[in-house]
Amino acid sequence: TPRVFSGIQPTNHLQLGNYLGAVKRFVEMQNSGIETIYCIVDLHAITVWQEPADLQRATRELAAGYIASGLDPEKSILFNQSQVAEHAQLGWIFNCVARMGWMNRMTQFKDKAGKDREKASVGLFSYPTLMAADILLYHTTHVPVGEDQKQHLELTRDIAAKFNNDFGVDFFPITEPVIEGVATRVMSLRDGSKKMSKSDPSDMSRINMTDDADTIAKKIRKAKTDPDPLPDHLDGLADRPEARNLVNIYAALSEATPQAVVTQFAGKQFGDFKPALADLAVAKLAPIANEMDRLMQDPAEIDRILAHGATRAHAIAAPILEKTYKIVGMVR
Ligand code: TYM
Repeated sequence: TPRVFSGIQPTNHLQLGNYLGAVKRFVEMQNSGIETIYCIVDLHAITVWQEPADLQRATRELAAGYIASGLDPEKSILFNQSQVAEHAQLGWIFNCVARMGWMNRMTQFKDKAGKDREKASVGLFSYPTLMAADILLYHTTHVPVGEDQKQHLELTRDIAAKFNNDFGVDFFPITEPVIEGVATRVMSLRDGSKKMSKSDPSDMSRINMTDDADTIAKKIRKAKTDPDPLPDHLDGLADRPEARNLVNIYAALSEATPQAVVTQFAGKQFGDFKPALADLAVAKLAPIANEMDRLMQDPAEIDRILAHGATRAHAIAAPILEKTYKIVGMVR
């Protein structure tokens, strides 16, 4: 039976790329009636330094973002990773399955560690084995993510296959990445060659899900573009990454195809397109921001929701971890 799992790191604010590339898809999958498990990966967050108070705030804010976007804590299992100890436990076993050579190829580690790799945490290096544990702990079949997580999902498949092969079992499923739609890689508003990111030093590079209407409109107005009008066919955007990105965002928010957006605005200047995009973005995002704000007024309720989700997640995870230990030969 299909089972969906995905996660987001509670660092900084949820941004539009996370929403369009991940959360919006999470909601669609939940509403299609499949079993869905969505995690706030706080153990992953601390692979780079987090101020404890900020981590706590970001965890609750992300929970509020999930719920405000349409995730229902009864339909989906919503919880934070550190409350289900089996993630770290299975992560250790996978540290012993994954090979150094595989890990050394992970581009996200290279990007995040930067030049001085000696100073990166060991956790940042082994990040993908914990991610594989997140997924395989629930015998997950489908993982909705943005394009940037593709390599980590391939590693997850390699870990599952090696575990099954080493121990001669057919235990962990070979998970399918679900990287679909027009918004699998939303780009920075300042630089069409960089992805939009929670951690970009420039706040103008992204739309945060907590931004108010004026801020959203300002960021779109100032977004980098080129002087040409919109073409009448998508091919005309092939080497115009900033223009293409704004069209994709419009398409994702309005649930149209990028070609339909281009057809609608053919011949128009960005001076006309940007206000239309800003209006659309505000109409779609402001209600979510308002609801997040409302939910954040009651942190105790958010904590109750996460604890409830953790209990449900643990009930699935515990027997799978137990079986894993037995397969490996641990005396229980
Ligand atoms: P994170 O927290 O960086 O991002 C959360 C999700 O948002 C997607 N995303 C984007 N999609 C489109 N355009 C963008 N600019 C953009 N930026 C981010 C990401 O692809 C992701 O789906 N390693 C994961 C968290 C994780 C996880 C897991 C995911 C931990 N364990 C298990 C799935 C399953 C991460 O850092 O996501």
